[in-house]
Amino acid sequence: MSEIVYLNGEFLPAEEARIPVLDRGFIFGDGVYEVIPVYSRRPFRAAEHFQRLQRSLDAVRIANPMTPAEWSRLIDEIVARNSGEDQSVYLQVTRGVAKRDHAFPKEAKQTVFVMSGPLVTPGADKVERGVAAVTTVDYRWLRCDVKSVSLLANCLLRQHAVDAGAEEVVMLRDGYLSEGSSSNVFVVRNGVLLATPKNHLVLPGITYDVVLELADATRLPVEVRPIPESEVRTADEIWLTSSTKEVLAVTTLDGKPVGSGKPGEVFRTLHAEFQTFKRKVMRAAA
Ligand SMILES: Cc1ncc(COP(=O)(O)O)c(C=O)c1O
Repeated sequence: MSEIVYLNGEFLPAEEARIPVLDRGFIFGDGVYEVIPVYSRRPFRAAEHFQRLQRSLDAVRIANPMTPAEWSRLIDEIVARNSGEDQSVYLQVTRGVAKRDHAFPKEAKQTVFVMSGPLVTPGADKVERGVAAVTTVDYRWLRCDVKSVSLLANCLLRQHAVDAGAEEVVMLRDGYLSEGSSSNVFVVRNGVLLATPKNHLVLPGITYDVVLELADATRLPVEVRPIPESEVRTADEIWLTSSTKEVLAVTTLDGKPVGSGKPGEVFRTLHAEFQTFKRKVMRAAA
């Protein structure tokens, strides 16, 4: 079955969807996006994703073309039209089509694109063994809190990880941890979970929030504060979190073992909590 996408009011096979070459998303990367995980055909934390979408749109001054209820109906429709119980829904809003000029066009209609593919979360082997990460300087712009489609820096950074045989980069800016190319990064030291503050230097992850809620529920001590490089390099545990990675342990950093070199105890607890929580939320939504 070919993938069905949504483009500006129409549902159609992915290979038939077309956008004009002057779309500002294509020309300038002038747009924002969201990725929503779908478990058992139910979007997970959809309201939070729509809130973050609104924040991104406000930040780049694009009017939201839909209400949360309309987004919700659209996501349900795209999920229904595609195969697979677990899906990953991608939605993108650009400033629309206009003659090329950096300044905003006076009249342009937003381009709205939604697609869905299989949700591929880390397999049991990755969860059991953990993954490799490499550190790098975070040379992205200073609005990393905006989920912008301008992802050239993130693509270069991710390729840096791939070239080094690693899963992800762990980025440092001015000597402090920021995040991964497409994930948030947590550190565990002496039984305390350290989280980077949500500011302009990181994307406010939806999974990040879930992890902090679960840490609170399990009485895991948490400190939300800037994390210096020295604490990253001597961490007992390092985790990556994102809607598709869920919670994943980093077991080598720059080729050196993190802690014991195996996913740590705190990770195991939190990962199990995350799986339980996910199932509970999905049952409640059924
Ligand atoms: C740069 C960046 N940080 C963090 C995340 C994690 O966000 P979420 O948990 O909402 O998927 C992502 C997700 O793609 C990302 O691209």
